[in-house]
Amino acid sequence: MMQSDDAYAGGESFYKLADAVQEIFGYKYLLPVHQGRAAEHLLAKTFVKPGHIVPMNYHFTTTKAHFDLAGGKVLELYTPGGAEGHEHFPFKGTWTWDACRRH
Ligand SMILES: Cc1ncc(COP(=O)(O)O)c(C=O)c1O
Repeated sequence: MMQSDDAYAGGESFYKLADAVQEIFGYKYLLPVHQGRAAEHLLAKTFVKPGHIVPMNYHFTTTKAHFDLAGGKVLELYTPGGAEGHEHFPFKGTWTWDACRRH
């Protein structure tokens, strides 16, 4: 099903991944990470600076934590009722401009 190698450095798998990423997305560089949390940490450290406002529909807990730690302020702009467990919206994470205007 999958072919990979376990080399810590210089593994062939990295080059296969890099080639696939370049072919599909056109990106020349990539930095694979082992977890979503690790990716968020790098993104937050790189792009979020003290005082930045980071709008999103609803936070994943670690996402908010990383952006907060970097000094950003996360605004959650999900649709009214989106945080109510008993509501049956098809997609509760929908972004709303009304919520954006309220902040
Ligand atoms: C936005 C986001 N951040 C972090 C995670 C957690 O990923 P991991 O357990 O690989 O750190 C997820 C998992 O779905 C995610 O969707």
